[in-house]
Amino acid sequence: MFVRKYLVASAATLALVSGVVMAHGDVTPQAVDVTSLKPLGDDMRDSNPYKGDKEAIRVGSSAYNQNCARCHGLEAISGGISPDLRKLNDVCTTLANKKARDACEVEEVDTYFRNTVLGGRVRNGNVYMPPFAGILSQEAIWAIKSYVETRKFE
Ligand code: HEC
Repeated sequence: MFVRKYLVASAATLALVSGVVMAHGDVTPQAVDVTSLKPLGDDMRDSNPYKGDKEAIRVGSSAYNQNCARCHGLEAISGGISPDLRKLNDVCTTLANKKARDACEVEEVDTYFRNTVLGGRVRNGNVYMPPFAGILSQEAIWAIKSYVETRKFE
C-alpha cells in the first residue's frame, strides 16, 4: 500500500509542471538491440527477469539514454521536471528490515514500471510521457529497469 500511495503522489505533483515537459515530447524513440539477451517470448512478465544481469544492465543503460534520459535525466538523475526513477526503485530497496522489504512488493513496482512504459502517460489528450508499446520490446523494458535498479538515490 505504501508503494501505491507514493506513486500516486509523485504523478500528481508532476502534473503541475507538465507544460514544460511537453516541450521535450517530439524526439523519435529508438529501437533497442536485445539480441544479446535471453528472449522472453510473448507473455508479458510481471517482474524483472533480468534483475542484476550484467549484459541487461549494459543494454538497458544505452536504451535508457536513447529513450528516457531526455525527460528523466542523464544517469537517471532527474532535473526535477519528470519523476526521478532512482526514487521509484528505492521505495522498496532502502527499507532496512527484510520483512518490510518483502511487504513492499518489489514485484508491484516492476509491474508499475512496465505498464507505465508501455502505456506512457496521456491525460485529457496531453502527452506527459509517450507510450512505448510497439516500440520497446519487453526485453528492452526489463533491460532498462535493470539499469535503473543500479542507480541509487543518495
Ligand atoms: C517526453 C518525456 C518523457 C519520456 C521520453 C519518458 N518519460 Fe517517463 N515520465 C514522464 C513524465 C512527465 C512522467 C510523470 C507523468 C505524470 O504526471 O503522470 C513520467 C513517469 C514515468 C514513470 C512513473 C514514475 C512515478 O514515480 O510514478 C516511469 C516508471 C517512467 N516514466 C519511466 C520511463 C522510461 C523507462 C522511459 C524510457 C523508456 C520514459 N519514462 C520516457 C516523462 C517522460
